[in-house]
Amino acid sequence: MCGIVAYIGQREAYPVVLKGLKRLEYRGYDSAGVAILNDAGLEVYKKKGKVAELEEFASGKNMHSHIAIGHTRWATHGEPSDRNAHPHKSASGKLAVVHNGIIENYTLLKQELIKKGHTFKSDTDTEVLIHFIEEIKDSNQCSLEEAVRIALKRVVGAYVIVIIDEDNPGTLIAARKGSPLVIGVGKGEHFLASDASPIVEYTKEVVYVNDYEIAIIKSDELILKNISNEIQTPYIQKLDIELAAIEKGGYDHFMLKEIFEQPQTIYDSLRGRLDAKKGTLTMGGIREYADVLSNANRIVIVACGTSWHAGLVAEYIIEELCRIPVEVEYASEFRYRNPVIGEGDVIIAVSQSGETADTLVAIESAKEKGAIILGICNVVGSSIARASQAGAYTHAGPEIGVASTKAFTAQLAVLTLTALKIAAEKGSISEQRFQHLLDELEDVSDKVATALELNDQIKEIADKYKDARDFLFLGRGYNFPVALEGALKLKEISYIHAEGYPAAEMKHGPIALVDENLPVVFVATKDTYYEKVVSNIQEIKARKGKVIAIITEGDETIPAMADDVIIVPEADELVAPMISVIPLQLLAYHVGVLKGYDVDKPRNLAKSVTVE
Ligand code: F6R
Repeated sequence: MCGIVAYIGQREAYPVVLKGLKRLEYRGYDSAGVAILNDAGLEVYKKKGKVAELEEFASGKNMHSHIAIGHTRWATHGEPSDRNAHPHKSASGKLAVVHNGIIENYTLLKQELIKKGHTFKSDTDTEVLIHFIEEIKDSNQCSLEEAVRIALKRVVGAYVIVIIDEDNPGTLIAARKGSPLVIGVGKGEHFLASDASPIVEYTKEVVYVNDYEIAIIKSDELILKNISNEIQTPYIQKLDIELAAIEKGGYDHFMLKEIFEQPQTIYDSLRGRLDAKKGTLTMGGIREYADVLSNANRIVIVACGTSWHAGLVAEYIIEELCRIPVEVEYASEFRYRNPVIGEGDVIIAVSQSGETADTLVAIESAKEKGAIILGICNVVGSSIARASQAGAYTHAGPEIGVASTKAFTAQLAVLTLTALKIAAEKGSISEQRFQHLLDELEDVSDKVATALELNDQIKEIADKYKDARDFLFLGRGYNFPVALEGALKLKEISYIHAEGYPAAEMKHGPIALVDENLPVVFVATKDTYYEKVVSNIQEIKARKGKVIAIITEGDETIPAMADDVIIVPEADELVAPMISVIPLQLLAYHVGVLKGYDVDKPRNLAKSVTVE
């Protein structure tokens, strides 16, 4: 949700910032802009649309500079437009800022500033912020750093800001509360970004700025202070991602690359934790809380979007194996409906980015009520991971495609391990079943690889149905959340209206939609519900709906009634979602591509939703 990049050092700053913005474009692509500082003064270039449009706009202009800030925007206040694009300048034009987050009390601040004679060129909260900072600097006759500190004490909301100052061409000022900021430490240079991807090719040494910290950054100096002006020692960490992990590696899209990475990413999520031969399962991140988890009265899983779907699968698995009641909540609803959190309740927060504001705020409020928080995150060092008392990383590697794919299967892998760990601790699973599920998990990567071989067939199916106006996705039991995920993937990247339902629920309403034009995707692998799903397929066929069925190898019943079948390897129903979701990801991908859409950057979306 908005990407920020900045550079100060000996290199030409603009190419570094531009490349960084391209890497962060998954965070928002409504507009892009840069501010550079050279002998001609402080110049801002910004354009509605993607970073490529900014690049074209700036081409041929004098972009020479050793200091620059840049921004790629996901609009919150003010429509996507040139004038609402960042950076925004202060009243004097001497300061420029890029901002990720929301200033909630900006209307109040704006009214105060208008009374003092300020006028504004944009509709954004960000422009108000930089005017406010300059107003404090001028009226208090203080340094920019001091003005930022005073301003931020009055600001309500979440932010990362980076400010460039014409009067101080050797310094950048940055601050963070609630949105991520990473500083890359090079030799005589510093890189700032919303995540490590713009930094990794230059340096592996990074500092994650904490909430309420202000950074004063020169080429060869980094000073961190808290909001009370006390110096903080920067904690330099080593990045463990490689450049190749954030590049397309020969694939047309990140989404396709990430779908095809899944045999490896699932393996990576299980590696070091699961040893099926020895019959052991180690979860270092929850070891200390194993007792709390196995004695939990209730587990509440909070998440959004795809991560919420992973949570739904986990609900079924945990209840089945651990006999602990589980609720799965949309983080945004959980936070605001004053939920009852009692002693013995455990919250599991599931998040790819680890930065989703709804999920972060939900766990913070649950923590205040005394709940224990377990975080299942993909991004190492992310805010949710840091706010959790215990947890496990999913190890899927950087997910750049805006539509989540490999993070989902990695979440399923880790949540299944967690359920098994709790069940073993609690004694609610037999040794035989425990061993069987470890064996199943160990085999799952190979089965996913087999499912990926269906790519060409799925592309043909996508071509056949790509012009449909609506799609229905149906499944029961463990396959119901998979159906929801299939529908979400399709609508996100092909803009086709799609709904997911429990297959049996269809007859309570959605069946009214069925006619010869409606493709209905059934996730109908062999499980406890199989016979019932077969009946549901017949109900759709009786109304002339087109049935595309994901089935298990060896099934001879469904091929006789479905219009198209996609055959995946057999697996225990608890691990089957990791396999049955693969064709749905590929279907969505191919429909989106065949319709000519930018599947890596679907309209209106952003990868990391850091506003509530
Ligand atoms: C869907 C998708 C979103 C995210 C949701 C939560 O493809 O990517 O629905 O799953 O915004 O994001 P995280 O998992 O980062 O908390």
